Amino acid sequence: VYDAGPYLPRDGGLDAYRRAAARCRGCPLHESATRTVFGEGSESARIVLVGEQPGDQEDKRGEPFVGPAGRLLDRALEEAGVDRDEAYVTNAVKHFKFTVASGGKRRIHKAPDLREMSACRPWLEAELRLLRPDVVVALGATAGKALMGSSFRVTKDRGALLRMPGEDDGPYLVATLHPSAILRADKEDREAAYAGLVADLGVAAKALA
Ligand code: URA
Ligand code: SF4
Repeated sequence: VYDAGPYLPRDGGLDAYRRAAARCRGCPLHESATRTVFGEGSESARIVLVGEQPGDQEDKRGEPFVGPAGRLLDRALEEAGVDRDEAYVTNAVKHFKFTVASGGKRRIHKAPDLREMSACRPWLEAELRLLRPDVVVALGATAGKALMGSSFRVTKDRGALLRMPGEDDGPYLVATLHPSAILRADKEDREAAYAGLVADLGVAAKALA
C-alpha cells in the first residue's frame, strides 16, 4: 500500500520533516513531479491553511501557493485581515499530479485519489502536530476530507467554526472554497465566490482574535 509513514523522521522539527519529505517515495506521485512541495511559513503560526496539492508553478519553485491560486489567496487573506507572514500554508498532498495535454507540454492538474491522499496524510499530521495551530483552514474538498474524514462536504459545512476530530482542545477548523475553483468559475459567478472565500477566512480570523 502507498504510505509516507516509513519516510517520516523519528524526531526533529519542521526542517527535519521538510528534508525527509524531499525524499519521500510513499506513493507514485514523486515519479513524474519535479520535487516535493512541503508547507511554508512561520513556525509560530496560529493559523494553518491547507490546499489540495501543488500546481505547476509550485512544482517548479518548490513552494506552496505561489502561482495564480496563491496570488488570489494572498489577496483574500489580506482582505480578511489574516497576515500571511503569521500563517503557515501547506497541502494535503505534497507532489503535483498532472496529465500532459496531447501533443502539448502544458501540464494539466489532476485531482489526487484516495490512496494518494491517505499515503500523504502523515506529513500533514506531522505539520499540525509540530505547529499546534489554533485554527486550520481547509481550502476545498480534498483538504476538507483529508482533515475531517471522507464524508466531509465543503459545500455543506463551509464557513462554520468547527472542531477538528480528536482532542477537545484541538484546533478549530474552517472549510472554504479552493482558490482555484474561484479562478475557474464563470465570470458572473466569480465575484460572489471570491466574496465567499473572504467571508469564510474572516470566520477563521475572528477565531484567532
Ligand atoms: N493549489 C493548491 O491546492 N495548492 C497549491 O499549492 C497551489 C495550488
Ligand atoms: Fe510521498 Fe506524498 Fe509525495 Fe506521495 S505525494 S511521494 S506520499 S510526499
